[in-house]
Amino acid sequence: MRAAVIEGYGEAPVLREVPDPEPAEGLILVEVRAAGLNPVDLRIASGRFYAGSPPVPYVPGSEGVGRVLAGGRLEPGSRVYFEARPGQGSFAQKSAAQDSAAIELPPGVDDGTAVALGVSGLAAWLGLERGGLKAGETVLVLGASGVLGLIAVQAARLMGAKHVVAAGRDRGRLEQARERGADAIVELGPGKELAEAFRKASGGGVDVVIDPVWGEPAAAAVEALNRFGRLVQIGQSAGAEATLTSSSIRGRSLAILGYTTYAVPQEQKAAAYRRLVQEAAAGRITVESEAVPLEKVQDAWSRQPRSPHRKLVLVP
Ligand SMILES: NC(=O)c1ccc[n+]([C@@H]2O[C@H](COP(=O)([O-])OP(=O)(O)OC[C@H]3O[C@@H](n4cnc5c(N)ncnc54)[C@H](OP(=O)(O)O)[C@@H]3O)[C@@H](O)[C@H]2O)c1
Repeated sequence: MRAAVIEGYGEAPVLREVPDPEPAEGLILVEVRAAGLNPVDLRIASGRFYAGSPPVPYVPGSEGVGRVLAGGRLEPGSRVYFEARPGQGSFAQKSAAQDSAAIELPPGVDDGTAVALGVSGLAAWLGLERGGLKAGETVLVLGASGVLGLIAVQAARLMGAKHVVAAGRDRGRLEQARERGADAIVELGPGKELAEAFRKASGGGVDVVIDPVWGEPAAAAVEALNRFGRLVQIGQSAGAEATLTSSSIRGRSLAILGYTTYAVPQEQKAAAYRRLVQEAAAGRITVESEAVPLEKVQDAWSRQPRSPHRKLVLVP
């Protein structure tokens, strides 16, 4: 079969003919229809990912939507969302996935949306859960111009947030966030008094911050947190380090909570994914995606770090 292959750490994938995945106990064989490209795929391929990287050469891609070809509890032909196994990824014509983790999809949700609700959507939804969001609270979403952030804005509303602030660098996408439920927007940029802007936009202070960016925006968001406020640390698009003020964290009894989907039990992930799909089918969560033929994997790979503002979806 045809697949994208990482032949060396730090290199872009190249198209190759590789053997089909081997069927095995507990696995389903899937014909891939759409594979999501995520920032984490590039981190893994750098060879410097905190959770490790498969030995090269390997097939990248963490998730996908496909039709079951064989194996497992689902009928052949069933359309499923699946998580790919490390090194035997979804950027290929076929993939082998854990049967127990594959989720059958309803017809009302297209492949691109189903993929965007996976790695990105789950971190948005479960990140809000990790932050213990309660109805009536105020949420600040950093990186609201990205796929995860824009889903988090919509999810916060669905979870009963009273006031949602969307922050990001891209003005056009922030206006979209406003259309999808944000009450206020804050444009990130150099030389801004961000903490004051966050406080003002939130009407005084924030209870939960969804933070896929870290760096300076996260440090400013900490300053805008209310007493007992929580910042959920999900990613580092703006920087790997941030300088936080001890007295702010101590004085207001704040919590900085790390989040990784790798640590979430399968049942909780599946429940959250089903809920996201249900909300998308009902039109309450919308996500942009762009289909890119697998042959153009290198173009997509080079666009991903420059914020494509939509989920790039590889189609084998
Ligand atoms: N912990 C987990 O389990 C988990 C799961 C999924 C994703 N993540 C992480 O979450 C982050 C976002 O993922 P995504 O799928 O939303 O990616 P994405 O769609 O590519 O979005 C990237 C976001 O980062 C922002 N950004 C990039 N550089 C920035 C900078 N220098 N300063 C401020 N903002 C910056 C972009 O803002 P502009 O477009 O406005 O520039 C955009 O909002 C990634 O770091 C990813 O690895 C973590």
